[in-house]
Amino acid sequence: MASQPKSIRDSQTVISQLMQLTDANPVGNVQGGIIMRLVDETGGIAAARHVGRPVVTVAIDSMAFYSPIYVGNLVTLKASLNYVGRTSMEVGVRVEAEDVLTGEITHTNSAYLVYVALDENLQPMEVPPLLAETPEEERRVAEGKLRQEERLRKRWAEEARRASEQATQVT
Ligand SMILES: CC(C)(COP(=O)(O)OP(=O)(O)OC[C@H]1O[C@@H](n2cnc3c(N)ncnc32)[C@H](O)[C@@H]1OP(=O)(O)O)[C@@H](O)C(=O)NCCC(=O)NCCS
Repeated sequence: MASQPKSIRDSQTVISQLMQLTDANPVGNVQGGIIMRLVDETGGIAAARHVGRPVVTVAIDSMAFYSPIYVGNLVTLKASLNYVGRTSMEVGVRVEAEDVLTGEITHTNSAYLVYVALDENLQPMEVPPLLAETPEEERRVAEGKLRQEERLRKRWAEEARRASEQATQVT
């Protein structure tokens, strides 16, 4: 039985973390991997909130860093569901860095991630439909659907390439 739709705002997630010396490279820039981990964590919480079950990351779109984040910056990550399929959920995460001494806030990067909800047997399970409540949310859902279609086209192409590679090795 399909579950009730859930609104986007019900699972929106915000995490803030102060960047420490241990997060940085020798010149004081926070390492990209630290931010990537926080992005994945924040997105995963939003997805798990939507479905009320554990989730795994199945895809992360390319991530570019527009400007550096420094030790002492307060990094804030905002995650929001954009689109859900049958068992998958696309989450957008926006990252901002605040210089807490000046109050200046910089948008440093954004990313899209796809999570899959798992049932008790760790198999993909159906997720609640996503309720878009504003024209802006409807636009985000439509854009998320297009991105997911593109990811799946790449997935099938990659699977076909691997299958043909294996067939060549066997013969
Ligand atoms: C997630 C996992 C259980 C899915 O298993 P699967 O056999 O691929 O199952 P499916 O083909 O039914 O895919 C499940 C969903 O993921 C989506 N999906 C799969 N690969 C995808 C990709 N590359 N990009 C976007 N979505 C993808 C499918 O479209 C499907 O969504 P839908 O039901 O909404 O259409 C399996 O791929 C897995 O365990 N992956 C590793 C997850 C993990 O450990 N992540 C941490 C990284 S180290």
